[in-house]
Amino acid sequence: MTRGISYSLVLALAATAALATAPHSDFKLTMNSALAQPAARRARVRASTPSIAASSSGRAASNTTSEPLFDYFNGTDLQWYGDITLGTPPQNFTVVFDTGSFSLEVPGTACGAACANQRQFNSSASSTFEDGQSSQTIVFGTGVGVDPVEGNNWEMWLSFVADVLTIADMTLPLGGFFLITNQTATFLPDPFDGILGLSPESGDLFAAGGYPGIFGMLFVPESEGGAGELTLGGADTTKFNGPVLYSPQVGNGNWQLGSRGIFVNGQTARTLQSNVSLIFDSGTSNMLFTEPIAEAIYSIISPDIAPNADEPGTYGIACDLIPTLLAVIDITFAGISGQGAFNLTIPSSELSSGPFRHKPELCQTLINVSEGFNLVGLSLLKHYYSVWDIDNQRMGFAPNGF
Ligand SMILES: *[C@@H]1O[C@H](CO)[C@@H](O)[C@H](O)[C@H]1NC(C)=O
Ligand SMILES: *[C@@H]1O[C@H](CO)[C@@H](O)[C@H](O)[C@H]1NC(C)=O
Ligand SMILES: *[C@@H]1O[C@H](CO)[C@@H](O)[C@H](O)[C@H]1NC(C)=O
Ligand SMILES: *[C@@H]1O[C@H](CO)[C@@H](O)[C@H](O)[C@H]1NC(C)=O
Ligand SMILES: *[C@@H]1O[C@H](CO)[C@@H](O)[C@H](O)[C@H]1NC(C)=O
Ligand SMILES: *[C@@H]1O[C@H](CO)[C@@H](O)[C@H](O)[C@H]1NC(C)=O
Ligand SMILES: *[C@@H]1O[C@H](CO)[C@@H](O)[C@H](O)[C@H]1NC(C)=O
Ligand SMILES: *[C@@H]1O[C@H](CO)[C@@H](O)[C@H](O)[C@H]1NC(C)=O
Repeated sequence: MTRGISYSLVLALAATAALATAPHSDFKLTMNSALAQPAARRARVRASTPSIAASSSGRAASNTTSEPLFDYFNGTDLQWYGDITLGTPPQNFTVVFDTGSFSLEVPGTACGAACANQRQFNSSASSTFEDGQSSQTIVFGTGVGVDPVEGNNWEMWLSFVADVLTIADMTLPLGGFFLITNQTATFLPDPFDGILGLSPESGDLFAAGGYPGIFGMLFVPESEGGAGELTLGGADTTKFNGPVLYSPQVGNGNWQLGSRGIFVNGQTARTLQSNVSLIFDSGTSNMLFTEPIAEAIYSIISPDIAPNADEPGTYGIACDLIPTLLAVIDITFAGISGQGAFNLTIPSSELSSGPFRHKPELCQTLINVSEGFNLVGLSLLKHYYSVWDIDNQRMGFAPNGF
């Protein structure tokens, strides 16, 4: 796998399709799901303490719990994932913590050979398991691997269930989630078992687990040689220096901020000086922009960056030219009330996502053209400690020191 566009934005596209056939609550990772439960078994929602987000200095809260995130590296940084457990006694899984989606999917034993490389949840072995008696399919809009999306070649068949869920030290006595009962072969190479959505709609997950609705993420690239970290209930102030700069969320359902303009190597263009909404997605490796914005950025970096007709939406350039190119991308965001605008910067080192599999002399560049939305993933998030503040509908960033 040499390229970095991965499947979380799946989420937005797939969820929309899925919602047409499922009650919305079925998709939330929450106790308040459509699954009817005896009152005694429902989670008791503990009162959450004021979130640290109230402090723009990023002071630590007492109510946090953290766990490491591991980098799936195959030529380039592809995905970060970490541990969860499900059931009683606990069964272990690894999941991508995906801010672009809002439900949990892990393989179940019913998936059998189609999930052969992944751990499979055995519901018969859990004393707290509840069957939701409903099923679902999700078709993903992009994939993890190098194979392009063709029709329904990234599809999961799902069954809605509930059981005890733990993430780090946070426990949900009964969380609703999906067991994968079958999937297309495209998912087989993944080194992780499932996906756990942390969209702005996942506030119920934190409430049910007794933590404030806020989390922090650190993604340490393979080249830096360390583990990343997910912190629930606040930010881990030992992982960054300086103040956290916040920008208000715009729009609903996605982690989305308003950009005031984009600069490339200090230059800009009329197309880049418009207000656009950018989705922040921890489950996507690189970036997706609409064609006019992608072309405007690329034209400042090099006239030699061109679409790769073999894989619609992607761009590339001869790999031997990559080291000669300057490609510093500054994106300006509005500050929250009382704070000025600020830039988030993607350094030149992110320009190449590595060679295309079938054209090894051609390197894929970091922006893929989308159909109508703008999204930044790990090529930006890797360079900041990020704070995802559900309770206050904003995101914060602090330099992570790499
Ligand atoms: C890395 O990518 C190559 C080529 O796409 C693939 O054959 C291989 O299975 C991948 N390795 C892992 C560990 O995913
Ligand atoms: C949050 O902090 C309060 C006060 O320090 C404490 O009573 C409560 O148990 C904590 N909750 C969790 C989930 O740690
Ligand atoms: C689950 O993970 C924990 C922590 O890494 C480990 O101690 C335990 O043995 C694992 N359980 C199984 C069944 O693999
Ligand atoms: C699931 O657990 C049950 C009860 O422990 C056991 O009998 C069964 O063999 C397990 N199934 C699989 C596929 O591991
Ligand atoms: C699983 O999905 C594949 C398509 O990827 C299909 O060919 C196969 O029949 C399905 N298996 C079951 C048991 O439904
Ligand atoms: C963002 O970066 C550009 C140069 O790339 C600079 O002109 C602009 O002043 C910066 N904006 C802020 C708010 O720092
Ligand atoms: C972008 O939005 C800001 C704040 O609403 C506004 O002041 C500015 O004029 C807008 N710029 C453009 C190019 O529309
Ligand atoms: C890049 O984007 C295009 C258009 O959305 C899409 O068709 C293509 O599958 C994407 N490529 C990858 C590798 O995700």
